[in-house]
Amino acid sequence: MLNLLLLKVFTIKTFIRMKVAVYRKAHFNAAHRLYNPGWSQEKNNDVFGLCNNVNWHGHNYDLIVKVVGEINPETGYVVDMKVLKDLIKSEIEERFDHKNLNLDCVEFNGINPTAENIAVVIYGILREKLDPSLDLQVRLYETERNFVEYPV
Ligand code: NI
Repeated sequence: MLNLLLLKVFTIKTFIRMKVAVYRKAHFNAAHRLYNPGWSQEKNNDVFGLCNNVNWHGHNYDLIVKVVGEINPETGYVVDMKVLKDLIKSEIEERFDHKNLNLDCVEFNGINPTAENIAVVIYGILREKLDPSLDLQVRLYETERNFVEYPV
């Protein structure tokens, strides 16, 4: 009986120390243009092709936020999903949804709004708001087949 009890306590404590990943999906639409202002129009066309369209183009971005941490023994949560949901909504979706990333978003002043750079910007915004004990990774889909992750 005592052995069983000890086994149970050990198992629960081991379980609590284990790290778990939790994910939250989000979505936003945004317009952008990819170009390097220091290059000629010809070079920009060569490198960025249709993405250099001066009249902009849009994407339906899908975002997956991954948070890794230990399970809080009092709540059973790694992170409160409601808190994470609200954070992504207020800090990412409301900031970028239906915006022109080049023109409307100061975050991309002087930064080409590629999927890579958007992922890094999103990471930076969320990282500041999350408990430092939690690991964070973002995956951003620009199309169904093209996506990036940061950090790696
Ligand atoms: Ni594009």
